[in-house]
Amino acid sequence: MQVRRSAEAGFCFGVKRALKLAMATARERDGPVYCLGPLIHNPQVMNKLAAAGIQEISRVEEARPGGKLIIRSHGVGPGILAAARKRDLKVVDATCPFVGRAQKLAHSEAASGTLVVVVGDKNHPEVQGIVDWTGGRAVVVEGPREAEKLPAMACMAVLAQTTQPLANFQAVVDVLLQKVGQLKVYNTICHTTGARQRATLELAREVDVMVVVGGASSANTRKLAALCRQAGVPTYQVETARELDPSWFKGVKVAGLTAGASTPDWIIEEVERRMKELGEMVAVEENIKDTSVA
Ligand code: F3S
Repeated sequence: MQVRRSAEAGFCFGVKRALKLAMATARERDGPVYCLGPLIHNPQVMNKLAAAGIQEISRVEEARPGGKLIIRSHGVGPGILAAARKRDLKVVDATCPFVGRAQKLAHSEAASGTLVVVVGDKNHPEVQGIVDWTGGRAVVVEGPREAEKLPAMACMAVLAQTTQPLANFQAVVDVLLQKVGQLKVYNTICHTTGARQRATLELAREVDVMVVVGGASSANTRKLAALCRQAGVPTYQVETARELDPSWFKGVKVAGLTAGASTPDWIIEEVERRMKELGEMVAVEENIKDTSVA
């Protein structure tokens, strides 16, 4: 069995930057270091960060005053930044610049009185942060069906969660163009996401099975898996090599491998190695079966 890895897989620029900032902060060793929520959606990497002394908290109030608070690449709203300052925490802002751009656009459009529509997942922290920058006034839609329900309006601004598939964003824009006089369209999907999704889809169309590696709660990993399934190829999402099942590779000639933006290289390499081993194992078993039948 041949294993082909997607041309774009693994850590993106924003995640690499956040990890570098977090590790540099931990190395300073001058007081407690906190991260609000998991720095990245990958349990294996989170264990390494915990070993370096970075404590994950879910509320600013859990931090000891005087400590450092790392803001992850998803970013946060102004309310959380104000709460951190009030608690005398030093903020280490690892918000991805692509997310920062979406926050600024949402903030300035809302400040000038324009209704902001965010295409994305309402429950994702990145989207919640963007909405906070509009004073909670932005409307979140997941796709064109929800966009249909919005009222007709003279002016509106639309932007996207950075990890949205371009086709979904475009479909929402098409709906809004029918009902809004002046629609300001800001494509805030990050280049990495687009390139990763395109490369994954291209690969999915050429293989017999796809393995997508990434944290179970990683939105961008789940989206990659969904894209592969839409392409009609059997797709499995795993966090580590241990979850791979030999039955997935029965009769498979070419298997594809891709990974979400929060998956480190060492995990991708482990999965690739194990896929090759399992591929050989399955081929040997099939050979034995054929020989015994003959
Ligand atoms: Fe940033 Fe894009 Fe990664 S928004 S965090 S570079 S997926």
